[in-house]
Amino acid sequence: MTVASSNNSFTATLQDLIEYPTSGILSKVLLKDQNSQYTLFCLAAGTEIDEHTSTRNAVLTVVEGTGNLNLEGKDITLAPGLFVFMPANAPHALQAKENLAFVLTLSEKSVKKQVVSQQTIDIVKSTANVLKQHGKKITTRMYEIMFDKYPEVKAQFDMSAQANGTQPAKLAAAVYSYATHIDDLDRLKAMVDKIAHRHVKTHVLPEQYSIVGECLLKAIQDVLGDAATSEVMTAWTEAYQALAEIFIDREQQIYQTVAH
Ligand code: HEM
Repeated sequence: MTVASSNNSFTATLQDLIEYPTSGILSKVLLKDQNSQYTLFCLAAGTEIDEHTSTRNAVLTVVEGTGNLNLEGKDITLAPGLFVFMPANAPHALQAKENLAFVLTLSEKSVKKQVVSQQTIDIVKSTANVLKQHGKKITTRMYEIMFDKYPEVKAQFDMSAQANGTQPAKLAAAVYSYATHIDDLDRLKAMVDKIAHRHVKTHVLPEQYSIVGECLLKAIQDVLGDAATSEVMTAWTEAYQALAEIFIDREQQIYQTVAH
């Protein structure tokens, strides 16, 4: 949901826009233009966002509530009125002690859009069959690693779809399609669109892509063993980042148009 358009001037009383979920995070994009995005985040008391990085410079301005921000290893107490600048790629983690509302301003990307090299395309395509063969094993392992290391993301998932293997199978199919069509991304549009809508419904955040990336790459390594050579891992790291950007961009568009 986007509250306002960047074509017109606009004022809002942030307190009126705050809505806390019973658990987890509710976010509202207040405004977005070509360079910046202003999002109101409302975190239920006790919500934790594990350490991650962002590819964009960010400013966090606390509106109400208290919490703790760990920025590059330093603890910062979050309280109303606090303004924190977080440079791109600075690791940070957050914990809401009480219901906590803040505005996060993301400014222009400081990291250039990922362009996938021909070498990466060739390597990724050459791994498509192996991924098809071991796909579900890899994605099952990836969720196992993720839920163990980042248990707070569990709240966003339907755990019965994990237990019966539906979700690992869907992720494996998506990864296989990507490996097959990495040089013809138009073929993936419908798939990206469907997944992105599901992600928006489940409040997936851009920052979470590094978590999934880390766990997916580790799972590929665990399952493929010696076949996961350093060339294969480098190619998949690059390819994953490019795919993550495709999802993040599409999800930002949907967040703007869909009330969630
Ligand atoms: C490039 C990376 C990713 C791929 C390829 C991917 C793929 C998928 C697929 C295929 C689905 C099923 C969609 C459907 O039911 O139609 C899905 C759902 C979902 N994804 Fe992702 N995803 C990615 C990243 C993420 C990230 C970063 C998160 C954040 C934690 C996430 C969280 C979810 C959630 C919560 C669901 C709904 C699952 C449920 O209902 O239990 N995904 N994803």
